[in-house]
Amino acid sequence: MTVQKIKNGIVIDHIRAGTGPRIFNWLKLDSAPFCVALIMNAPSNAMGKKDIIKIDNVLDIDYSVLGFIDPNITVNLVEAEHVVKKIQLSLPAKVENVIRCRNPRCITSSETGIPHSFKLVDRRRAEYACEYCDELYRAGIGDVL
Ligand code: CTP
Ligand code: ZN
Repeated sequence: MTVQKIKNGIVIDHIRAGTGPRIFNWLKLDSAPFCVALIMNAPSNAMGKKDIIKIDNVLDIDYSVLGFIDPNITVNLVEAEHVVKKIQLSLPAKVENVIRCRNPRCITSSETGIPHSFKLVDRRRAEYACEYCDELYRAGIGDVL
């Protein structure tokens, strides 16, 4: 399948196959007024299959949330049809208001207006802990807020 190159914007590449739609939704691209593409199960030498998102528009995206959803992503910034920068994402040290603590006794469960804050405690296991009650959460499997 051939998908056109973009002019000015972002190509989100090396997305774990199957995760593309979640990122597409997180970025609210379903209602975008500019040209976007979600490519699923593209053949990849390194990954077997991968998803790709092409956005032909300059967007300000939160790389830490993207890295939390899938740390193996490469973000390509495209200007005048050329890749001018490649950003290799990774698991962020902290995420705020991205996931919710599921401990019913956590202060964030009983009170509103408190940021849902998690810090990375084990990079290899992609494990985060709630800042208030230490409830553990594994990145990349649950849903973002
Ligand atoms: N791309 C695009 N429009 C452009 C330039 C690039 O859609 N004007 C896309 C390419 O199709 C590719 C991605 O952006 O999916 C990265 O482009 P490039 O760096 O040229 O490819 P590779 O060298 O294969 O990237 P990598 O080494 O990161 O796998
Ligand atoms: Zn908690």
